[in-house]
Amino acid sequence: MGQPDETTHFGFRDVSLGDKQTLVNDVFHSVASRYDLMNDLMSAGLHRVWKDVMINALNPPCGDTPFTLLDVAGGTGDIAFRAAEAAGGGFRATVCDINSDMLSVGRARAIARHLDDRVSFVEGNAEALAFPDRNFDAYTIAFGIRNVPRIDLALNEAYRVLRPGGRFLCLEFSTVDVPGLDRIYDLFSFKVIPPLGGVVTGDAESYRYLVESIRKFPKPYTFAEMIRAAGFSRVNWQSLSGGIVALHSGWRL
Ligand SMILES: C[S@@+](CC[C@H](N)C(=O)[O-])C[C@H]1O[C@@H](n2cnc3c(N)ncnc32)[C@H](O)[C@@H]1O
Repeated sequence: MGQPDETTHFGFRDVSLGDKQTLVNDVFHSVASRYDLMNDLMSAGLHRVWKDVMINALNPPCGDTPFTLLDVAGGTGDIAFRAAEAAGGGFRATVCDINSDMLSVGRARAIARHLDDRVSFVEGNAEALAFPDRNFDAYTIAFGIRNVPRIDLALNEAYRVLRPGGRFLCLEFSTVDVPGLDRIYDLFSFKVIPPLGGVVTGDAESYRYLVESIRKFPKPYTFAEMIRAAGFSRVNWQSLSGGIVALHSGWRL
């Protein structure tokens, strides 16, 4: 468990755990208004496909059966909206994010999509969730966990708030495992994304952090071990797009 003076990575820099969260918050305050546009540009729309794979795995009930989703680090609401659109009338989602600017964009998008009665937005930290034990049917976190300073605490919290039988799903950038693709991916990540982020959001540095943080995230088998250590069963992962992204899953049994 992290102590206040322990260090971690902010991209390629070593920083204290407390500083990492402050720096991450600055990144998302800075890019919130152009975040969705940048996602489309830097992934050539592929983030939509990856998110659809997550929603297929979640498989929320289509009928009126009650089903509650907690989408942590949910930002502007993409995962919750997709799940709500795939689900029936019994579906409710709570988007929890530490960043008020990302949540404001999400709330406006929920109203525009007429989903504000089924998707609510709450400010909170993945490391210390303000929800009771055994409260949700599913917990999702997409492209969020690598930004959390103490990943082990976030995983413990995910386990705590899930009901027995509840599903844990985590979509995150991973390790490219296709020869040739790795070099193209590195070139695109370090030479294209930060300048593109600079043009679109006026903040190239934030996008430099985002690509560096991908390289510092644990390998999929190491992350799967961390998920098991939090108590989850039937832990598995699926590589997508040659390992650019992985969908990790587990159950609270
Ligand atoms: C890359 S965005 C992902 C947003 C959304 N899940 C998506 O896929 O589009 C990462 C999000 O993680 C949030 N975040 C970072 N640290 C967090 C923490 N400790 N607790 C909750 N959210 C956090 C950021 O504010 C940001 O909205």
